[in-house]
Amino acid sequence: MQVLVTGGMGYIGSHTVVELLENNYEVIIIDNLVNSKIDVLDKIEKITGKRPDFYPYDLCDKELLKKVFMQHKIEAVIHFAGLKAVGESVQKPLLYYHNNLISTLNLLEVMKEIDCKKLVFSSSATVYGSPKELPIKEDFPLSTTNPYGSTKLFIEYMLKDLYQSDPTWSIAILRYFNPIGAHPSYLLGENPNGIPNNLMPYIVKVASKELDHLNIFGSDYPTKDGTGVRDYIHVVDLAKGHIKALEKVLSTNKVDCYNLGTGIGYSVLEMVELFKKVNQVDVPYQIVERRAGDIAECYADPTYAQKELGFTAEKNLEDMVRDSYQYFLHNQ
Ligand code: NAD
Ligand code: UFG
Repeated sequence: MQVLVTGGMGYIGSHTVVELLENNYEVIIIDNLVNSKIDVLDKIEKITGKRPDFYPYDLCDKELLKKVFMQHKIEAVIHFAGLKAVGESVQKPLLYYHNNLISTLNLLEVMKEIDCKKLVFSSSATVYGSPKELPIKEDFPLSTTNPYGSTKLFIEYMLKDLYQSDPTWSIAILRYFNPIGAHPSYLLGENPNGIPNNLMPYIVKVASKELDHLNIFGSDYPTKDGTGVRDYIHVVDLAKGHIKALEKVLSTNKVDCYNLGTGIGYSVLEMVELFKKVNQVDVPYQIVERRAGDIAECYADPTYAQKELGFTAEKNLEDMVRDSYQYFLHNQ
């Protein structure tokens, strides 16, 4: 079965492509490499022994997109492609709305035209805004605090409206919590350019002495130790969740949302301490002001994904912090 993976050269996409190939799906990737590198293709081949078809196209170009659908018999799509930096989205909202919304509209229009109506979409826990209760369940109220989050929420609305208009579609909306870690081959992982925004890549750069110290954004949150609490999930577990979601969309006709997390929240200080212990390195830090837009605590209720998809994250936090650092050490 042929599956199109948009954004398949990126962090989560590349790990998912590996899982798809290992489960004998044929994979076609479209990715304009705006946030990824061409050598990911060789690495995917090295891990799996298979080379997916690759098109370096921008999804905002509908004609090129249509060409790919004409050349293959694509039965389902996993849609990762999008820009994802929260801070940048505040600075450049039009870029985010244009890229994330136009690319998705083009994809949905072409899928409709070709009659390929099975889709798995990358959403985010950011659509829960600042949750009033924890753990977060899929039916909690939705809101956003930045343009990036708004693009995810608008796309969720688009997908629900599309299904209402035509119930022959089958759509899984996956709300990721905080993916970290890397493939155990250490060929694939996260490689942010410049100074990272996210906690784990920042810790890695401090541990390797590329950056002087970690700034911990606030120690006065109403959490176990005052620092922010998140639900970190290993990227390989997350990738496996996409296979489960794909099986679901191939066997049902509905639109549904699923949290992909572990259900366990860890604080920034807990992350730093475990990273130091597992990797035997120092991670100097300073407590600074809260970061604008951050929430205190965010972790999933993973029971709906467990029940409906049969998905449970298997790797623990030690695996995550070890693999994040080992990926760095293997790729300097
Ligand atoms: P990533 O940036 O590593 O991967 C996204 C890929 O999409 C990149 O390879 C990029 O080149 C490509 N892309 C972007 N715009 C494109 C376009 N117009 N046409 C073709 N290709 C395009 O990001 P990721 O961490 O792998 O995230 C994948 C998806 O999951 C994104 O939609 C992201 O918003 C979502 N998500 C990520 C996180 C996270 O913390 N990493 C959390 C929640 C949701
Ligand atoms: N943090 C620091 N110092 C840093 C970076 C982060 O203290 O240098 C703290 C944050 O304040 C937060 C925690 O570490 O408490 C995690 O922060 P991240 O930036 O790693 O992750 P977020 O939870 O803020 O956001 C991420 C993605 C979003 C996504 C969200 C939910 O960046 O796109 O997870 O999936 F929407």
